[in-house]
Amino acid sequence: MVWDVLDGVLAGAPDGLDVLDIGGGTGGSAVRIARRGHRVTVVDPSPDALAALGRRAGEVGVRVEARQGDLTDLGQVVAADSADLVLCHGVLEVVEEPGAALRVLREVLRPGGRLSLLVAQHHAAVLARAMAGHFAEARDLLTGTTAAPHRTARGRTGRRFTVEEVRGLVTDAGFEPVATTAIRVFADLVPGSLLDLEPGASAALVELERAVADRAEYLPLAAQVHLLAR
Ligand SMILES: C[S@@+](CC[C@H](N)C(=O)[O-])C[C@H]1O[C@@H](n2cnc3c(N)ncnc32)[C@H](O)[C@@H]1O
Repeated sequence: MVWDVLDGVLAGAPDGLDVLDIGGGTGGSAVRIARRGHRVTVVDPSPDALAALGRRAGEVGVRVEARQGDLTDLGQVVAADSADLVLCHGVLEVVEEPGAALRVLREVLRPGGRLSLLVAQHHAAVLARAMAGHFAEARDLLTGTTAAPHRTARGRTGRRFTVEEVRGLVTDAGFEPVATTAIRVFADLVPGSLLDLEPGASAALVELERAVADRAEYLPLAAQVHLLAR
């Protein structure tokens, strides 16, 4: 469903876009976008991830620029006003100050550019823990502060956001949200055995996910929320 949204942005640029994938890791998104003729730069602190990105890009014969760096000091590796599209997928959860990080991304984006932001959603984590039988952990998450990293009885950490929180952060950083999409409302709750046994079940699940992706009432159930902002 993220790609349903991003494809619209990418398709509207026949001359290609300058795309920055911050925390782009091993390049799954970057290589997919580069294959469509866009100029992609990945910035990531992990040298191992960047090496894997280089191999992945080489295998399919595309060029992706890889720079080692961190979202918090992005200005040292990427020029201001240099990107038409910034991807920040699965990264806001791990930075110290999400609001400050988004303001840094605002500086990098050209006027009229787009931010593609994908974050873990708080309420779904509570539901998933309960469905897995980890009731005390679900309770810990329920009462924890959503915008701060969570530490549970099993020692897991990672920040999650409610839809209101992420929209507030994005708006405070100077962006205007243009689309909010629910990602993986059901997929993480369905036992894999059901998908394996029932012919066509996986495709039907994808269609179901697509049918609820832009329905606001399903956003609090989504494992992740995707925001497109300008
Ligand atoms: C969950 S992975 C997401 C990878 C990719 N964006 C994706 O959606 O598949 C998080 C990535 O963020 C990177 N990362 C961690 N801390 C970061 C920071 N402070 N600034 C930028 N990237 C960071 C990690 O190295 C890792 O590649």
